[in-house]
Amino acid sequence: MNQLELICALPKAELHVHIEGTFEPELMFAIAQRNQIDIPYQSVEEVKQAYNFHNLQSFLDIYYAGAQVLVHEQDFYDLAWAYFEKCVEDRVVHTEMFFDPQTHTERGVAFATVINGLQRACDDAQTKLGISSNLIMCFLRHLSEDAAFATLEQALPYKDQIIAVGLDSSEVGHPPSKFERVFAKAREAGFLVVAHAGEEGPAEYVWEALDLLKVNRIDHGVRSEEDPVLMQRLIAEKMPLTVCPLSNLKLCVVDDMAQHNIRRLLQQGVKVTVNSDDPSYFGGYMNDNFVAISQALDLSNAELKQLAVNSFEASFISAEEKQKWIEQIQALG
Ligand code: ADE
Ligand code: ZN
Repeated sequence: MNQLELICALPKAELHVHIEGTFEPELMFAIAQRNQIDIPYQSVEEVKQAYNFHNLQSFLDIYYAGAQVLVHEQDFYDLAWAYFEKCVEDRVVHTEMFFDPQTHTERGVAFATVINGLQRACDDAQTKLGISSNLIMCFLRHLSEDAAFATLEQALPYKDQIIAVGLDSSEVGHPPSKFERVFAKAREAGFLVVAHAGEEGPAEYVWEALDLLKVNRIDHGVRSEEDPVLMQRLIAEKMPLTVCPLSNLKLCVVDDMAQHNIRRLLQQGVKVTVNSDDPSYFGGYMNDNFVAISQALDLSNAELKQLAVNSFEASFISAEEKQKWIEQIQALG
């Protein structure tokens, strides 16, 4: 089997995808029109031309603007359903997706509207497409600790539908320590926890996510490589890093895919996984990310398989489910 055939055949879990980041311009236009909301673009081409980011903040400004057209439960359903259809194409059989309730509740959209729409899509994905999924609720780190506490409070009635809490948005200047107390309360309530750290922020933020937030996974974490002691800890603890190669390229975390450190991290024994982050904005979904690193870094079939195995090992599914998928991966050529 050649690399492309293997990438397509591998079952995969996606552990780092922001559902608002899967919003394709065509769907954005359709939903804006039916909700009679003006967007500052005349055409799909104009939207795509606006996607010339040079760092995380310049991306986030456009990402939050796009999300403003989401108002009704059906909008959230349609958004998630479109993503699940991409999962089918890419053989993503399980996904743990982020949603940002504060982006919506701040504009007067009810928490229930957001989660009910997403949950209905997740239920349909299981019954109609055979794709399993979990929701991870992220706190926006550029907002206050109080706002995060209020969001956690709103999530408690939906505890059974939210597997974990996460931390996203503008990283630099908003370290994990800002949310230490919120995460303690979330853990007490029974949520698993993840956090974006070491994307644009320093390795120090990864230490904080581990020591203060007590995360089960680190999202991104690519800057951990700058700290050899941290690297030893990640390896010893088998701490997963959910790496997003095309995102890193688009947001200039790396200048060139050939310089991406995912292969080095893998070779050193870090449990790295491949993910799309915000695929509508960064030029591709799961398999596009696999193809990009496979070509730029000349990955072997064994390495591609290891990345797929890692995605299940790092996921929040049961040990039996993990075993089932890992056996399927190992049986491939
Ligand atoms: N929100 C959506 N995508 C993000 C990313 N790559 N980093 C931080 N926050 C985000
Ligand atoms: Zn992300």
